[in-house]
Amino acid sequence: MFSENTIKQLVNYKTPFYYYDLQLLHNTLDEVVKQSQKYNYHVHYAFKANTNKKIIELICNKGLGADCVSGNEVKHAIENGFVSQKIVFAGVGKNDDEINYALSQNIFCFNCESIHELQIINELAIKQNKVASIALRINPNVDAHTHQYITTGLEENKFGINPYEFDTVINLIKQLSNIQLIGLHFHIGSQITDLVPFKNLCLKVNQINHYFLNKGFDIAVINVGGGIGINYKEPDKESIIDFSAYFKVFNDFIELRPHQELHFELGRSIVAQCGSLISKVLYIKNGINTNFAILDAGMTELIRPALYQAFHKIENLTAKLHHLPLNKKYDVVGPICESSDCFGKAVELPETKRGDLIAIRSAGAYGEVMSSRYNLRDETKSYYSE
Ligand code: LLP
Repeated sequence: MFSENTIKQLVNYKTPFYYYDLQLLHNTLDEVVKQSQKYNYHVHYAFKANTNKKIIELICNKGLGADCVSGNEVKHAIENGFVSQKIVFAGVGKNDDEINYALSQNIFCFNCESIHELQIINELAIKQNKVASIALRINPNVDAHTHQYITTGLEENKFGINPYEFDTVINLIKQLSNIQLIGLHFHIGSQITDLVPFKNLCLKVNQINHYFLNKGFDIAVINVGGGIGINYKEPDKESIIDFSAYFKVFNDFIELRPHQELHFELGRSIVAQCGSLISKVLYIKNGINTNFAILDAGMTELIRPALYQAFHKIENLTAKLHHLPLNKKYDVVGPICESSDCFGKAVELPETKRGDLIAIRSAGAYGEVMSSRYNLRDETKSYYSE
């Protein structure tokens, strides 16, 4: 991804910053659109992964919808060109202001996560004299076999309505005057690198879809969320995931009735590989067993390693320019006063020196959006390749 020219250009910017390869994003989006259109599937971009303006502008131009999890995300989507009829709004804790705003904008659908939430949306919709379209977020109890912090579809997780609540929900929906049930929504977790959990999800969806039909609800929209994982180990080998295989699983295993639409909410698989966190080495500290490379970027810019023990490939771009061999090991750490502020332990790198430019790869999803000002750090900046 990093040509000599790009590296020479990056040296001129003050580190740390995010660098986005917009051409790769463009190609990724073209592939998503091509593969999903084969089956007439609808794709919403999960805003939570990255809300950088240039990124979402490009995504909007490719015609995707938006999957939002806060009132501000809904607002950001609308202000950046997404039509409200392609916006879905999810989240276990939507507050009244957020619901009121989304109602006023006539968004496509609220993904409702609890019985109590259905009652509140109904009350607020009555006050605005609107009928809110809703999908029930269902907890399908499908194990995504991913990190415990990013698995969502199990009974022990806080998300969604459980199957034992269905009868109560159905009776309630019949009574609520200002909500209309249009969809069933599922999401089992994130960074799922095996397609089997998605097949299992399809089988669960079929049962639940059938159950609702038997109860008199001919649902129009099935939304299966996102979660397909990317290759963090070798970002250049697989810079665009196999979207063809991913969508095919749904085509093979989900049983839709002719009028039913299938919707997706993809975040990571769209934006992760186009972003890198670029940093410079401040100090090298040689210990007895461990050498440290201390960077000017830390967990404040990219928290995933500290929070989920996430792996990100680390490259010394300066050494790459000089074709140096990988012959040393460093613990690559940031400047923040926390031991967890570590990007990788015993990382194989070339001989690394103060001032070397370091790329932390696959950071386009859940990177910049999760950055913080802890330790009163400067706001995170970003640059782009066109
Ligand atoms: N839909 C729902 C309801 C979600 O909760 C999520 C992600 C997505 C869609 C998009 O999933 P994706 O395609 O990006 O896997 N911060 C964590 C990831 C949290 C994911 C939260 N939900 C990380 O850095 O790995």
